[in-house]
Amino acid sequence: MLKAIYPGSFDPVTNGHLDIIRRSAKIVDQLIVGVLNNNAKSPLFSVEERVNMLKEVTKDIENVKIVPFAGLLIEFAKEQGADLVIRGLRAITDFEYELQMSQTNHKLDSSIETMFLTTSIEYSYLSSTSVKEIAVFGGDVSQFVPKIVAVELEQKMK
Ligand code: PNS
Repeated sequence: MLKAIYPGSFDPVTNGHLDIIRRSAKIVDQLIVGVLNNNAKSPLFSVEERVNMLKEVTKDIENVKIVPFAGLLIEFAKEQGADLVIRGLRAITDFEYELQMSQTNHKLDSSIETMFLTTSIEYSYLSSTSVKEIAVFGGDVSQFVPKIVAVELEQKMK
């Protein structure tokens, strides 16, 4: 049984994340979406809100579980009995950070591999940061995030 972790901040989950979740869930037997609980990053949404939004938008995917985590990703992966970490790569600008992270994680535990999926072209420009910025200035985010996330963002901005 192949088990993978797809970790991230998901503040909030975008259509780009959801695309990676759907594609990864077809490759592995079980996909755990690990939601980073780190207040030092000052997220817009609490970890509970981020977990709930992810649960809602992945409820039709049978082999996906949403689990919050704090601390080291590699420790969380071991705790969950995962074989793989999956990350999405949007553009060359992501590469350096992702390479460093995967190599560091591999040094910490060489039994856990990192696998990269390239983002679908239609989401290659998309980030949670730009979605939040659009929302802050009252822009329409409906083409970038699932409907319930757009609603939650609108509520937050009130
Ligand atoms: O969506 P993000 O913010 O790009 O996700 C980053 C994340 C959560 C994958 C990364 O910050 C992480 O793994 N944090 C946990 C701490 C850790 O393990 N750090 C060592 C890896 S270099």
